[in-house]
Amino acid sequence: MFAVYAESFSSDDPLTGLVVGERPDPEVPDGWTTVNVKAAALNHHDLWSLRGVGLREEQLPMILGCDAAGLDEDGNEVLVHAVVSDPGWTGDDETLDPKRSLLSERHQGTFADQVAVPRANVVPKPASLSFEEAACLPTAWLTAYRMLFKQGGLKAGDTVLVQGAGGGVATALIALARAGGLRVLATSRDEGKRKRALELGAHDVFESGARLPMKVDAVMETVGRATWSHSIRALRPGGTIVTSGTTSGPKLDDAELTRIFFLQLRVIGSTMGTRSELASLTTMLDATGVRPVIDRALPMDRAREGFAAMAAGDVFGKIVFTR
Ligand SMILES: NC(=O)c1ccc[n+]([C@@H]2O[C@H](COP(=O)([O-])OP(=O)(O)OC[C@H]3O[C@@H](n4cnc5c(N)ncnc54)[C@H](OP(=O)(O)O)[C@@H]3O)[C@@H](O)[C@H]2O)c1
Repeated sequence: MFAVYAESFSSDDPLTGLVVGERPDPEVPDGWTTVNVKAAALNHHDLWSLRGVGLREEQLPMILGCDAAGLDEDGNEVLVHAVVSDPGWTGDDETLDPKRSLLSERHQGTFADQVAVPRANVVPKPASLSFEEAACLPTAWLTAYRMLFKQGGLKAGDTVLVQGAGGGVATALIALARAGGLRVLATSRDEGKRKRALELGAHDVFESGARLPMKVDAVMETVGRATWSHSIRALRPGGTIVTSGTTSGPKLDDAELTRIFFLQLRVIGSTMGTRSELASLTTMLDATGVRPVIDRALPMDRAREGFAAMAAGDVFGKIVFTR
């Protein structure tokens, strides 16, 4: 079948290991099913995979892609929950299996004609969402939903700062926070992206690192090193920083520990989300009319263009591949 996969790793030039070609049809273990992929969204995770983060040499070739929307074996419109739990996992639906993996880590990913997934990972797609829109939900939008409403504990009337407004997770954070009744501040390095963040629902936008007119209840962090200090300094006493990514790198010059203990700040990690949170997010979009921002949709055989745009940071919202 047609597939976009990683053949080798390069930390400096990740696109050298990217192949647009053919791979064998998926193997389908007991309790799993297949989804015919109609649309699949690109995530920074796919670039990390080409850099060798989270994958080992002996796992190659690996079909990339965590997110998909398409048709199940009976022709129903579905989306795929990208988190694959260990078969022995017996935890509740609030927590995530510590032995989990994402599609394209241990099991082949979604940038292909077909993907095999555990039956429980198939979620109905509302007719109001297009395949392209639904494909944006399983990673970036689910991560944003959990960061705001579960790990961040935010509610209508709270004030939130979103760093790096142009990203896939960041655009989801802005749109979901606005729909959830929050006051939304956002930063971006780029003037054009700041303007688009306002159109998307941010109440106020600032250059990265700029002094803010007010302290916020919570900061949503996916940038890491480049914005961490600013994020900590933006919080009111007792405020919360939720971190789910480190696009600019994980090593900090100054973790701002003194400020963290003196102001009794809360530092919370967040990753992906549960199947029931994905179902709630889907309902929220169906009910509110909020839709993922799609930077561009490309036929999957032009995936290399999408990867290059993401590597260059030349993106506002999600890049989606269609079949
Ligand atoms: N833990 C999880 O489950 C999970 C899930 C999804 C994503 N993530 C992680 O979250 C991060 C974002 O993912 P994504 O898919 O949204 O990536 P993306 O679409 O490529 O967005 C990256 C964002 O980072 C900002 N940025 C990059 N370098 C920066 C710098 N030096 N200074 C300031 N801002 C900078 C950019 O903001 P501007 O250009 O607007 O300034 C851009 O919005 C990635 O590291 C990804 O691995 C984690």
